[in-house]
Amino acid sequence: MDRSPDLDPGFAGEFADELADLSLLAFEPVVPDLRLDVFRGGDWITDFAQDVHRGLSADPPQLQPKYFYDARGSELFDRITELPEYYPTRVERAILRERGAEIVAAAGARALVELGSGSSEKTELLLAPLLAARGEAVYVPIDVSESAVRQASVRLIERYPGLRVHGVIGDFEKHLGGLPADEGRLFAFLGGTIGNFTPDHMQFFLRRLGRLLAPGDALLVGIDLVKDTAVLEAAYDDDAGVTEQFNKNILNVINENLAGDFDLDGFEHVAFFDERNSWIEMRLRALRDQQVRVGALDLRLDFSAGDDIRTEISRKFRRNGFERELAAAGLRQTGWYSDEENRFALVLATAA
Ligand code: SAH
Ligand code: AVI
Repeated sequence: MDRSPDLDPGFAGEFADELADLSLLAFEPVVPDLRLDVFRGGDWITDFAQDVHRGLSADPPQLQPKYFYDARGSELFDRITELPEYYPTRVERAILRERGAEIVAAAGARALVELGSGSSEKTELLLAPLLAARGEAVYVPIDVSESAVRQASVRLIERYPGLRVHGVIGDFEKHLGGLPADEGRLFAFLGGTIGNFTPDHMQFFLRRLGRLLAPGDALLVGIDLVKDTAVLEAAYDDDAGVTEQFNKNILNVINENLAGDFDLDGFEHVAFFDERNSWIEMRLRALRDQQVRVGALDLRLDFSAGDDIRTEISRKFRRNGFERELAAAGLRQTGWYSDEENRFALVLATAA
């Protein structure tokens, strides 16, 4: 693309795990089989404010995709997963339906920890065989979206006798300290969310996860694969305009939480496949010259027509390349599960 991307304004190459427990806001023993740890409080707003300030002041301006997901953003993402153009969820679900039991057995899983769990809908295809094999299990969904963790936890407790849920409402880059120390944990990172990290950030995150894996633990990562550009671009620019609403929701989140006055109609949704980097890039492009204020940050921004804010990258991988990146992070691939057309893959790994 035009300017070389430095896409991670918030990634300082450090994790704050040591501090994580200090920011635990609430521990809710909701019902006997459900516990929720809530980390999203004042710290979250402070981090959000800092990240938005740094990101919008950068050249080019950029925002981190984790800020899409307030309750409305999570709802919009769930609608995206049902769009005819958005194949990743459907294909990953089909792989899990066919091979979920095999994956659980290959991982020797006794407990399931899920990063960025969202609606936890596909997760049931791992939980059901886990429970069938063992009669009981612990599930630990971790997501910044409070509504997503609460709704999924209650649904799963009601649906699966023998399941205990220990939900974590927080950031999987900060709040992985204090996870239950059960044996045989399967860490699932589904949906292709790992592709929303830049390559350096992903490498760092995988290393961190590798250190977290105890002997007997395993990691299952969902990755989207390179395919025809038209198919890729349609998945991020659907005819019904749901992805456009999802993309613009990040401006709503700023308006509501940081007293911003972004006019959503002043920006258009842009999504294209950057072949050189092998990622879809989503942007919001100013439709006219305009000034925006973010009151809580005391920030005034001038946009000229055509100026872009980068809001997300979504990497598309090749099998060999991903294997190499896993190995470089000190992980060993133990399983590869993909559909016949190689549209999406689930990769099982352990610490090397
Ligand atoms: N795993 C689900 C949801 C994918 S959408 C699926 O496959 O359908 C990405 C999810 O990751 C969202 O629910 C979002 O809230 C969550 N997420 C993104 N960044 C996060 C972070 N840093 N910490 C915790 N959750 C995060
Ligand atoms: C969550 N993540 C894997 C989605 C993706 O495909 O990168 C987010 C998304 N962005 C636009 N549509 C869906």
